[in-house]
Amino acid sequence: MSNVAKIELDGTVYEFPVVVGSENEKAIDISKLRDTTGYVTLDTGYKNTGATTSKITFLDGEEGILRYRGYPIEQLAEKASFLEVAYLLIYGELPTQAQLDEFKTSIQKHTLVHEDMKQFFEAYPAKAHPMGVLSSMICSLSTFYPESLDPNRSAEAKNLTIHRLLAKLPTLAAWSYKNAMRHPFMYPRNEFDYCKNFLYMMFAMPTEDYNVDPVVVEALNKLLILHADHEQKSTVRIVGSSQANLYATISAGISALWGPLHGGANQEVIEMLEKIHQDGGDVDKWVAKAKDKEDPFRLMGFGHRVYKNFDPRAKIIKKACDDILSKLGINDPMLEIAKKLEKVALEDEYFKARNLYPNVDFYSGIIYKALGIPTEMFTVMFALGRLPGWIAQWKEMTENKEPIGRPRQIYTGETPRDYVEISKR
Ligand code: ACO
Repeated sequence: MSNVAKIELDGTVYEFPVVVGSENEKAIDISKLRDTTGYVTLDTGYKNTGATTSKITFLDGEEGILRYRGYPIEQLAEKASFLEVAYLLIYGELPTQAQLDEFKTSIQKHTLVHEDMKQFFEAYPAKAHPMGVLSSMICSLSTFYPESLDPNRSAEAKNLTIHRLLAKLPTLAAWSYKNAMRHPFMYPRNEFDYCKNFLYMMFAMPTEDYNVDPVVVEALNKLLILHADHEQKSTVRIVGSSQANLYATISAGISALWGPLHGGANQEVIEMLEKIHQDGGDVDKWVAKAKDKEDPFRLMGFGHRVYKNFDPRAKIIKKACDDILSKLGINDPMLEIAKKLEKVALEDEYFKARNLYPNVDFYSGIIYKALGIPTEMFTVMFALGRLPGWIAQWKEMTENKEPIGRPRQIYTGETPRDYVEISKR
């Protein structure tokens, strides 16, 4: 294997080191490319660009492998609790019982949000999308904790911000739903664990007792673990690299997740399945639409920028979907349509040739629906799960003192020209 890459430009050969990761991933280190050659690379959408080295998550899109800190996603989804996985991602190792207890207690202490924040909710229109509300609310937290704006504060103070965020996101997420419903907010119950507390704040009413179904708690725990990290989160790392505070940085991550080509796909998938159902369930017709280059329709929940094989999370979710629906005694026609769609697409030459497999969002919406989560909240659920990964990415980046993220470009606009008076244009 070569340990240098040679590039010939204008008759001169330049050498650049080859960097090899612990899973044998190889990269050409071009950090000195512009200094030595005057050239930059051009890679729209960063399909070939490794922005950093990282010890957090390994994924192999060709083989369909995903590991957090070396632990296979299958084992974590089967055996761990969400907060255990959050600890692993953020601090690098699985916690001991004592470490986990301390972590949980600290998070439980910070679940309340400042009473003044309730007034912000009142100002949003009833139809406000909860992702817009959540992103703004998370950024607003920075105004209540101005000390978090100081990039040079102690590691202990940074840790407090991390715990506050983990504690308050479920409260703000549940309240964004309550607000849309114009239902009274439910305060957190600190004796409940993370997932149970979130479900309680979402679905309980002050007027009656509410028992959280353990099957629902377990399902949510699994879904959040599957979403907890997915290696590079460029938005979070880029915003964080400017030394913006953690609340603003995570708010940017939430906004980046919102789009239908990313986390917003889970909402799009269920809306697509409902449309197909209402249209008579003719799966072949919708597959044909997805293949038609004149038609902007895409099969939502299919394809992934890095997985060119079955998304390992989709495999786990598909099985969980069958288990959960049967445990809850739900017979959802959407699941049947999804399975038919998957079968047709997997056998179709168009999808095979482009390595388009179901992704994590394909089945997650059906589970969320079964758990009683409204469609507009699906992407909020994704954000809830992804928070530890974003925090881990931010923490690693700040600890490594990475430089500000600022890609170059190749300018293709006008060359210099003189200003023309408006009367002469
Ligand atoms: N349905 C139909 N055709 C598709 C789909 C799809 N879902 N996805 C990709 N293609 C086609 C493209 O039209 C393109 O075809 P072409 O080569 O003939 O032009 C080819 O497959 C490659 O597609 P790109 O968009 O170039 O692939 P990229 O890696 O940039 O995009 C993406 C990945 C955005 C996820 C894409 O597959 C997509 O739009 N999927 C649907 C949305 C979705 O499910 N997003 C969630 C992803 S998971 C996540 O973010 C958590």
